[in-house]
Amino acid sequence: MSDNEVFFKWSPDYSVNIKTIDDQHQELVNILNRLFIGVAMCEDDQFIAGILDALKNYTQTHFELEERLMQQAKYKDIEAHKLEHKKLIGQLDQLCKKHALEGKSIQYEMLDFLKAWLQDHILGVDKKYSAAFQQSGFSVDAWEREATAEFSAMAEKTGRWWKIW
Ligand SMILES: [Fe+2]
Repeated sequence: MSDNEVFFKWSPDYSVNIKTIDDQHQELVNILNRLFIGVAMCEDDQFIAGILDALKNYTQTHFELEERLMQQAKYKDIEAHKLEHKKLIGQLDQLCKKHALEGKSIQYEMLDFLKAWLQDHILGVDKKYSAAFQQSGFSVDAWEREATAEFSAMAEKTGRWWKIW
């Protein structure tokens, strides 16, 4: 697949300067790109629902990890950020339900929504905590060593079947 065919192209602008978190965000982008290909290839509704489900599960796990990081770093805006996560999961839930009811007719609307949703999550709320960690002097190194080991185990367990390149 060439670069200009990629639905959501990752760029360094999305980095929060924490490798584990960047890796997970890129994985979310991978799942979204897999969804786009599924839609473009006219995969059936059940197949598309499976990818949406993977996106939801991975997002939930990712949010849990972020919340633990914010807690350990004693991030002052953690409660507001957790509320954002809750709202985003709710939106994802609604979308899965809408897709189950309406199927193919909402696929492109769904892709646009998810792209904006993911961009908002990364650029809107996540950049804030990474900037705050840098200001407060919290070192992410030790946390990352622990989280990276856990993340590898998690990725192995899921099999990452959506990975296509
Ligand atoms: Fe995030």
